[in-house]
Amino acid sequence: MIKAIRGTRDLLPPETALWNFVEAAARDVFRDYNFHEIRTPVFEDTQLFARSVGEETDIVSKEMYTWEDRARGQSEKGQSLTLRPENTAGVVRAYIEHKMWERPGVQKLYYLGPQFRRERPQKGRYRQFYQIGAEVMGPPAAGSESPARDAELLEMLAALLDRLGVDGWKLELNSVGCQHDRAIFEAALRKALKPVVSRMCADCQRRAVTNPLRVFDCKVPEDQPIIAGLPQIADYLDEGCRQHFAEVQALLNELEFPFVLNGRLVRGLDYYTRTAFEFTHEALGAQNAILGGGRYDGLSEALGGPKAPGIGFAIGEDRLVMALEESSGGIVKKPDAYIAPVGAGMNGHAARLARELRRHDLVVELGDESFRLKKSLETASRIGARFAIIVGENEIKADQFALKELSTGQQVAVSRAELVGKIQGS
Ligand code: HAM
Repeated sequence: MIKAIRGTRDLLPPETALWNFVEAAARDVFRDYNFHEIRTPVFEDTQLFARSVGEETDIVSKEMYTWEDRARGQSEKGQSLTLRPENTAGVVRAYIEHKMWERPGVQKLYYLGPQFRRERPQKGRYRQFYQIGAEVMGPPAAGSESPARDAELLEMLAALLDRLGVDGWKLELNSVGCQHDRAIFEAALRKALKPVVSRMCADCQRRAVTNPLRVFDCKVPEDQPIIAGLPQIADYLDEGCRQHFAEVQALLNELEFPFVLNGRLVRGLDYYTRTAFEFTHEALGAQNAILGGGRYDGLSEALGGPKAPGIGFAIGEDRLVMALEESSGGIVKKPDAYIAPVGAGMNGHAARLARELRRHDLVVELGDESFRLKKSLETASRIGARFAIIVGENEIKADQFALKELSTGQQVAVSRAELVGKIQGS
């Protein structure tokens, strides 16, 4: 038997109702904050991720699904393509490709869709997972660099989590500085790593040479006490970055938005500058980051575009749905009515009636004239329908139907004209 690939999964009803609920709420909130949807391809040139997320990150060095596309001609070499491991790179590529800076103001874009990382699968961690994300970017003159953008984005996230009824989340906040502070910090980090790096894992030994900041992504338990003793970026911010971060915090305080500072939060992607954040959720266990994001003021230029500071986030939709699952009882809409055609020639009448009811936005399930009435009523109960409507020859002649409330067993005769009102009014 052929099965779904490890780390991928089928989402089945009724769980998909929860996914739709989350996505509809996200679209509503994005609309209120004047964000618009962008859809980019699920595969891109491999170089896009190498140059944005960074060669030395776990994502690019270990987790990407990359392949060489078939060459088109004899002389041509196949292009290296990659299934997107995240979507900020694709959005910034599209921003540059379509000269979106020529549009007025800052661009406020959101996306929903699958991402792919070849991680070790476990609860809350998949190889195909789903993100709901947003990016705000634009020319500095449009206000894209302002701490007000950071605060607005974070406040929007809280509004979304609130609307979904998710509580128990925590915002961890840091500033990872800009290129200028990063260079000074890296020098300090290299110095601090020198006497200890030989006791660290092989990955850290490599990172210490190529990209020391990535040492903070290490998950090896034995390395953690060493990492805890390393200098932290928060102590190396230059005046501009310090000021920016202070303003973000002041705005959040003004909004009475709770957060905790985490000077070691560097996030596992190279493009971040200044504000970096993660929301964690208490109910999620080991994979407790429900979303992450931050600024990427130099990313557009790194990809050959104009200066276009930006900030964004991505929610792990799989994890968000997990956090909601316990409290999701009432989301799946059960059928309002099950129509039971009884006797030969009744399927057509039943279908007509179903169409009438569905036009009034009722959820209707249709039986079959070959079923015995007993079987129809059993099915109606099993699928959780509120009413069964019996459609037989006598009912058609009288133009009234037997409406049976399944929870009580009570049955009344209702005319065609009254049927919708009777079902909706109950
Ligand atoms: P990220 O932290 O790599 O950031 O991913 C964001 C979220 O996606 C995580 O917090 C987590 O909830 C979810 N996630 C990541 N990997 C997996 C996985 N294997 N299985 C299930 N969920 C996962 C980014 O992707 C950035 N592009 C966010 C961003 C947007 N920064 C600025 N703009």
